[in-house]
Amino acid sequence: KKTIRDIDLKGKKAFVRVDFNVPMKDQQITDETRIQAALPTINALVESGAIVILASHLGRPKGEVVEELRLTPVAKRLSEILGKEVVKADESYGEAVKAQISKLSEGDVILLENVRFNAGEEKNDAELAKQYAELADVFVNDAFGAAHRAHASTEGIAHHIPAVSGLLMQKELDVLGKALSNPDRPFTAIIGGAKVKDKIGVIENLLEKVDNLIIGGGLAYTFVKALGHEVGQSLLEEDKIDLAKSYMEKAKEKGVKFYMPVDVTVADDFSNDANIKTVSIEEIPSDWEALDIGPKTREIYADVIKSSKLVIWNGPMGVFELDAFATGTKAVAEALAESQDTYSVIGGGDSAAAVEKFDLADKMSHISTGGGASLEFMEGKELPGVVALNDK
Ligand code: 3PG
Repeated sequence: KKTIRDIDLKGKKAFVRVDFNVPMKDQQITDETRIQAALPTINALVESGAIVILASHLGRPKGEVVEELRLTPVAKRLSEILGKEVVKADESYGEAVKAQISKLSEGDVILLENVRFNAGEEKNDAELAKQYAELADVFVNDAFGAAHRAHASTEGIAHHIPAVSGLLMQKELDVLGKALSNPDRPFTAIIGGAKVKDKIGVIENLLEKVDNLIIGGGLAYTFVKALGHEVGQSLLEEDKIDLAKSYMEKAKEKGVKFYMPVDVTVADDFSNDANIKTVSIEEIPSDWEALDIGPKTREIYADVIKSSKLVIWNGPMGVFELDAFATGTKAVAEALAESQDTYSVIGGGDSAAAVEKFDLADKMSHISTGGGASLEFMEGKELPGVVALNDK
């Protein structure tokens, strides 16, 4: 795929779709990872003398102007980071915006208003896409985190002007693409999170590719039940028990080593002050709830991680938001951090949040900026925002 490195952008107006969908509290950005991740592209465009027109969504305003979801705090922060003015537009297309852009010089940066204030954005309205395209000479898609959405600013616009990927987009596609198509081995996938239902696609796709599949989190208890054990008050999807069984059989057929918890931390309440104890998975008491993997499991998982060349991790091992049940997730993060020969790919919003929480983010090889997007990529799906880049 063509990137911004393959075309001459001097004096060109570039409509750059970024994913500035950052968490905010009281108009303050609480995590600016996604802004930082877009800097290589923004800086490269500024240096090449482009006129940089940034566009993003923030939250889910559903086609209406929601004051708290304006991108003004992001423009302010970006301006501080870049050490230069970032002009903030009050809209994301139209005559007023065109007039603002016409006053800009090479290397200047403008941030458009939240594209999801437009009713046509999520509908991928062709007319809206054309309006965006009219602002610029070229479309640069650097919003990997929104690439699974076929929206006017991620997909539609690419049908109207030349479209290339930005450097973050390219990096995400390179890393995740290589992991799935040509992985270093042993290749291990760690799949956690609350529900089997949300991970069906990714488990099915990765079962075809990995050497080891590690299961944790709330979804593991459906597998425990599939083995014939009782799970007490733990999360259980009755309608997925047979599916869980079939995955274990499939793993056997394929020669994939399948790891699930052998012991767990159970609690009598969903809180930090609950009574807790460690039990084997055969002995989960009927009125207790498993909320984390246990010490033996942690050890086994750490050993598998350390003997792997490549690990993809999606989904926590327990309720890591509560310190009492964060140990298993932390143990996985630490094993990845300590294992210098293991290339670690962290996909999914929760696993990324976990490594942040444990202050281990800088020890990971690659942390994807995409939650839903990296999940869909790992499911083997084509991302509309990426497919569209082939258009011209
Ligand atoms: C994300 O945060 O995963 C992306 O920015 C996409 O946001 P969305 O789920 O609201 O489309």
